[in-house]
Amino acid sequence: MLRSQHMPGAEIPPLITADQLRTRINELAAEIRRDIPSEDLHLICVLKGGVLFLSDLIRAMSGGVTMDFMALSSYGAGTTSSGEVRLIKDLDYGLEGRNVIIIEDIVDTGLTLNYLQEILRSRRPKSLRTACLLSKPSRRKIDVHVDYIGFTIDDKFVVGYGLDFSEQYRNLPYIGVLQ
Ligand code: IMP
Ligand code: MG
Repeated sequence: MLRSQHMPGAEIPPLITADQLRTRINELAAEIRRDIPSEDLHLICVLKGGVLFLSDLIRAMSGGVTMDFMALSSYGAGTTSSGEVRLIKDLDYGLEGRNVIIIEDIVDTGLTLNYLQEILRSRRPKSLRTACLLSKPSRRKIDVHVDYIGFTIDDKFVVGYGLDFSEQYRNLPYIGVLQ
C-alpha cells in the first residue's frame, strides 16, 4: 500500500517494541550522566517528534535537568525531504554557559540536525551534545556528529513513539514500519 493511501489506525508492524525502547532509553540516560556526572543538563527537545523520547529520558535521569523546546521544519506533509530547514519556534532561554543536549527523534539525511547544531553552537553553550533515538546512516547527506544513538535502523519509514506520517501515529507506544 502506498503511504499516501495509508489509513490512520491501521495495524503497523513493530520494529522496536515498547520494552526495547524503555531498556535502551534507561541506558542512554545513564550514559549521559556518566559523561556529565555532576553538572546541570539543559535538554533541548526538537518538536514534535522528540517529545516522547524526552519525556521518558528525563524521568530516567538523575541530578539537575532543565528543558526547552524548539520546532523546525524540513519536510512538508509527505516523506521526502525538501532539503530546506526552517526555524518555526525558537527557545525560551539562552544557552550561554549551559551543558546542552539536543534531543531528536531521528537523524535521516542529517540536514535538520546540522542546521540545529550550527544555530545552537553560535549561542555559546558550555558544551553541546546530541542524542537521537534513531539513526538511518544509509540516508546521510551530511556527516553530522551524534553523541548518543538509541537504535540504528535500515532505510525504512518509521512511525510511532513521537514519529509521524502526516501528523498521524505519534501516539503508538512502539516504533513501527509504515509499509
Ligand atoms: P533529516 O533532516 O533528513 O535528517 O530529517 C530529520 C527529520 O525528518 C526528523 O526529525 C523527522 O521529523 C523526519 N523523519 C526522517 N525520517 C523519518 C521517518 O522514518 N519517520 C518519520 N519521520 C522521519
Ligand atoms: Mg524531528
